[in-house]
Amino acid sequence: MLRTENLTKKFGSLVAVNNLDLTLEQGDVFGFIGPNGAGKTTTINMLAGLVPPTSGRAFIGDVDVTRQPDQVKRLIGYMPEHFGVYEDVTVWEYLNFFAHAFGIHGRARQRVIDDVLALVDLEHKRHALVETLSRGMKQRLCLAQALVHDPLVLLLDEPASGLDPRARVEMRALLHELQAMGKTILVSSHILRELSDFCNKIGIIERGTLLISGSVQEVLAQVVPHRTLRIRVLDGVEEAERIVTAHGKVMGLESENGYLRVTFDGTDEEVAQLLETLVTHRVRVVAFEEESADLEEAFLRLTQGEVG
Ligand SMILES: Nc1ncnc2c1ncn2[C@@H]1O[C@H](COP(=O)(O)OP(=O)(O)O)[C@@H](O)[C@H]1O
Ligand SMILES: [Mg+2]
Repeated sequence: MLRTENLTKKFGSLVAVNNLDLTLEQGDVFGFIGPNGAGKTTTINMLAGLVPPTSGRAFIGDVDVTRQPDQVKRLIGYMPEHFGVYEDVTVWEYLNFFAHAFGIHGRARQRVIDDVLALVDLEHKRHALVETLSRGMKQRLCLAQALVHDPLVLLLDEPASGLDPRARVEMRALLHELQAMGKTILVSSHILRELSDFCNKIGIIERGTLLISGSVQEVLAQVVPHRTLRIRVLDGVEEAERIVTAHGKVMGLESENGYLRVTFDGTDEEVAQLLETLVTHRVRVVAFEEESADLEEAFLRLTQGEVG
């Protein structure tokens, strides 16, 4: 649904985007993560047909973005990083303008405006002037505008930036809804945590280069080499320690007051077997859980060049 091949953008001697290869299937929600200045906006602007690449190609569906930028505009919903909304019109007039521009007329236009207003939860603001909306509402209005022509692909450049925590949660819920509608979404952020819990794929870009990409699990597996299990036992600590230490996939063990922290290199299957072994040897297990790998830490390690 979205593909780039060696996509490159140079500004003079600065390589803003360097030989980027990305592939998104329909329904993918791709988190495009990188620090400020990494090249996210430049990439998105090239995908939206707004900035011509220096070299390489980009496709939305079968449409070559550089050769048919006008066709691309019907396929994508684009939400820029710094959006300007016309302030002295009402919410309804604003959306009506864009729907008209996309050639949607008559009853269909009324319906589509109603639909997107409902989706972004701004029905009650239909007749309000845009300038009276909160930042979060303007952001949602901007997203509504990107949706009027029912695009297949959404390019959202830092949609949660500048929002307060509540508005962020609302934005996240909205993205979930769009995902459920089957949209293919590329969403950028400089904050990894913001994306990792609802993207199925992520990629980390730094200084124009995609350092790593894949499913969240794949990226984690590459960046966080081992998993950590936390086990708490009521009694039988020594037996538990014996079993854990003897396990071939255990890399390390810390044990204190009935709490065992186990560094483990095995599969889900092997994790389940370890628990089974503990229980069959009459160790009374109170808690057994995997420490969630810290994506944020992984991100920092990556962007500090600790991971090759
Ligand atoms: N129009 C431009 N002219 C010159 N340099 C630019 C231009 N746009 C972006 N850059 C540079 O390209 C790099 C990537 O910027 P950008 O794509 O905005 O990063 P991000 O969105 O990840 O913060 C930065 O070093 C930025 O200064
Ligand atoms: Mg940017």
